[in-house]
Amino acid sequence: MLSKNSVPVFFVLVAFPLVINAACRQSFMTICDTFDDFKNYKNTQNVKELIIGSETGSAKSSVNLMETLKLEKFQLSTLIIIGSINQLEMTYHYECLYASSPLKYLSLYGNELKRIERYHFPLIPLKTFSLVNNKIESIQAEALKHNDAETLDLSDNFLQTIEYSSLPLTRTTKVIAIRNNKLTHIEPNSFPSSLLSLHLDNNNLWHLQDGVLGDLDKLQELTLSHNKFKEIPDVRHLKQLVIFDMSHNEIKFVEKWAFKQMENLQLVDLSNNVIASHFILKWLDVPNKQPTLTISLAFNRLRDLDLANLPLQNKTFILYGNPWNCSKWNELKSALRGHETKCDMAFLANERYPYCINYTPGVYRFEGLWENDIDKFHEAVQKNDNLAECGLAVAKYQVLNPVHFFCTFIKDTS
Ligand SMILES: *[C@@H]1O[C@H](CO)[C@@H](O)[C@H](O)[C@H]1NC(C)=O
Ligand SMILES: *[C@@H]1O[C@H](CO)[C@@H](O)[C@H](O)[C@H]1NC(C)=O
Repeated sequence: MLSKNSVPVFFVLVAFPLVINAACRQSFMTICDTFDDFKNYKNTQNVKELIIGSETGSAKSSVNLMETLKLEKFQLSTLIIIGSINQLEMTYHYECLYASSPLKYLSLYGNELKRIERYHFPLIPLKTFSLVNNKIESIQAEALKHNDAETLDLSDNFLQTIEYSSLPLTRTTKVIAIRNNKLTHIEPNSFPSSLLSLHLDNNNLWHLQDGVLGDLDKLQELTLSHNKFKEIPDVRHLKQLVIFDMSHNEIKFVEKWAFKQMENLQLVDLSNNVIASHFILKWLDVPNKQPTLTISLAFNRLRDLDLANLPLQNKTFILYGNPWNCSKWNELKSALRGHETKCDMAFLANERYPYCINYTPGVYRFEGLWENDIDKFHEAVQKNDNLAECGLAVAKYQVLNPVHFFCTFIKDTS
């Protein structure tokens, strides 16, 4: 017994001053390994920006956020908790204490939260509330309804459905991101009408029920890419839309009325779908008022485009990666001169980059053979992607910034 005890006592005596200082350290922010370390930190009252935990943190515990951190006492404006919590306890005693809290940025990253319930978080008027990269499977109805964060980020979780009133329905939330979850269903009126940006990419959505985009009259940016949509959901009433990203879905047709009333539209990204009809630009009927509108149809299955009677003023098209009919290409290229992007021109300047298929008459007795060749063509284009790096750099989250494109042409050094 004695000898067993004497070793740690000796160790503690020697290490004591070091332990206190090493537990929390002052860097660009105050960084503490655990909640207890923060409690023992001498300067807690003055800490403004705090990180608790680390990405490699393995000891996760059940935490009552408000009781542990006594937020009403501190001057915290930024709080980041990484890899430290596996469950949140109710905070309802404190729920209304925080209306004037200086906390503006709250992020619980890489914890193991599975379920978000009411009273898990106090009602703090946050600028950013991030629960990215947890294991959230469900958000209870009313759970976040009164949290008036400006930006709510629930990306990288396991959500399958969004129930009515589980998200903030205050009039302050401007951005909601639920990227990279497993969403298949969203109940109508789940999003607040104050929303400017909504990001639902990388989910399993194939349909949006009427009313899901219901009264989002102010919405400027909608991201539905990397889902399983076969048609464009009813976005008609989103008259303020500036950026619409529907890339990487299974879209074949576009309803003629879809964009008809969107006078502010600057970017429609329909790249990486299965559009094959040469009438596509006729269906993409948009008001001709905006200074510039960029339409990306890259990586679809287009062989030709019908441009007859089409107003092309102030429109730019991104068309690479389509299996254009070589016998139509020159005509098409001159008709679209001045409306192509730098990306397209870079591809055409590089003769090693495939841009059309020679559909030799007589060879294609069945349409299925075209389809096979189109798949091979897409593969060939993608294989040559290292020759030209081209894409849309959309200022996500910053809808008010102008849409811009980048195109770096990597010179062939051989
Ligand atoms: C195109 O944009 C310019 C401003 O950049 C504008 O003056 C002109 O009216 C626009 N044209 C059409 C047809 O909308
Ligand atoms: C390609 O264009 C030529 C010339 O207009 C046409 O005869 C041929 O049917 C087209 N092929 C395909 C597969 O669209």
